[in-house]
Amino acid sequence: MKQPQARNSRRQSLQIRRARKNDRDAIWRIFRAVVARGDTYVFDPHISRTKALGYWFGQKRRCYVAVSDERIVGTYILNPNQPALGSHVANAGFMVAPSAQGRGIGRAMAEHCLREAERLGFRAMQFNFVVATNKPALQLWKALGFRIVGTLPGAFRHIRRGFIDVYVMYRQLKAVV
Ligand SMILES: CC(C)(COP(=O)(O)OP(=O)(O)OC[C@H]1O[C@@H](n2cnc3c(N)ncnc32)[C@H](O)[C@@H]1OP(=O)(O)O)[C@@H](O)C(=O)NCCC(=O)NCCS
Repeated sequence: MKQPQARNSRRQSLQIRRARKNDRDAIWRIFRAVVARGDTYVFDPHISRTKALGYWFGQKRRCYVAVSDERIVGTYILNPNQPALGSHVANAGFMVAPSAQGRGIGRAMAEHCLREAERLGFRAMQFNFVVATNKPALQLWKALGFRIVGTLPGAFRHIRRGFIDVYVMYRQLKAVV
């Protein structure tokens, strides 16, 4: 378990900014390492670089990176969850490099993402696919005010554990009065 002081000093040196074209290699390394585990995202664990980056840098999607000591240690995307009449609800996806997980980077990116979503005028945020065994994610989303609004029985085929439930999680944003 990391000491709170260590976590705080790491977070102070963390910079979160919009992704640039030349961040792609670093983002791909993180993406590949995260999906290869087959325990949190539905992507093919052997997905190609082109497909992965095509998704992460997709249309209507804003992509961000977390930088620590000039190294990209995490990335997140923010986009409308639905088109047109559902576009006031945001959706986001987060990936921290496996070697950097558990040090507060996910929380820092999520807090940044919530601020960005509010700034952009979204009224709520929805996570469509939170795997029930993904304890760090569940813990973090709950701590940030998301609640489980639905369960999709066996909707994820975990690479080691087989069929696992998936949660849909939701929270309003401050923009709502
Ligand atoms: C989920 C993820 C984004 C969290 O980022 P992180 O940097 O590892 O997490 P943090 O260090 O910011 O910790 C977040 C919270 O989870 C808790 N946590 C971390 N590891 C945990 C574990 N193994 N079990 C339970 N809780 C855990 C921490 O205590 C922390 O809570 P707090 O901020 O209230 O103290 C990151 O682990 C990740 O990229 N995982 C793989 C991809 C993924 O699951 N993405 C989300 C899909 S919904």
